[in-house]
Amino acid sequence: MSLKEYRFFLKDKIRQMIDFGATDQSRGIPMPPVEKPFASDDPRIDLVAKDGWHNISSVDLLSAIQDRKSHRHFRVAPLTLEEVSFLLWTTQGVRERAGEYTFFRTVPSAGCRHAIETYLCVLNVTGLETGIYRYLPVEHQLLIVRKKDDLSEKIVAATFGQSFIGKAPVTFIWTAIPYRMEWRYHMAAHKVIALDAGHVCQNLYLASAAIGGGTCAVAAYHQESMDELLGVDGDDEFTLYLASVGKI
Ligand SMILES: Cc1cc2nc3c(=O)[nH]c(=O)nc-3n(C[C@H](O)[C@H](O)[C@H](O)COP(=O)(O)O)c2cc1C
Repeated sequence: MSLKEYRFFLKDKIRQMIDFGATDQSRGIPMPPVEKPFASDDPRIDLVAKDGWHNISSVDLLSAIQDRKSHRHFRVAPLTLEEVSFLLWTTQGVRERAGEYTFFRTVPSAGCRHAIETYLCVLNVTGLETGIYRYLPVEHQLLIVRKKDDLSEKIVAATFGQSFIGKAPVTFIWTAIPYRMEWRYHMAAHKVIALDAGHVCQNLYLASAAIGGGTCAVAAYHQESMDELLGVDGDDEFTLYLASVGKI
């Protein structure tokens, strides 16, 4: 494919080419779940709810925006479960339930479809074992995906040797479940999923300031290795974007 052809992805020309009457939503196919399903007996960890946040500082929005920058050097210090709970809520949390299947979150999303899932690569969080976890926004819980000892090495290898990621106490790894967006927008789904990811990561940058932390976005990763690390199939769900967080 030529560069010129590939630029098509960034345009909204696709909207004029889609028969919106033929999308799965228009055809009456049931809406996909708002979050990736899990079994009721899957091991889960309760996160700290908003009214239990006592150590999150108030940061002036102007300063947070003005001082925002990427951080790749972190102090050797753990994040607390409270801090992780706060960061998860600010990036994907539910701010209002407006119906059985309508959840408004702390970030915008095209058509409120929210096709992004959040995984954590936990290397140093108080009270959490090293491992891969998945955020459940509706329950505000963490699902234990897998515990892994050599995770630091694995994630560095899966990000082409970006060593700071292996030293970060926690790395957010966002996947896309494209069908959640395709159900409504068909071929117009993919660009807006990428746009949605930007909002999520920007909230992480700004929220990190409230815990004395710093963030660095990461889009350079080995697709198959990251998907394997998370245990996702790479087709109906795949890695889209990452960001490491630590104390600065
Ligand atoms: C989409 C995107 C992908 C990025 N990927 C990486 C990356 O893989 N590794 C890295 O060290 N920084 C990455 N960055 C951080 C940029 O290098 C950084 O934002 C840029 O140099 C500007 O610096 P600032 O964020 O401090 O303003 C990425 C940033 C964005 C927005």
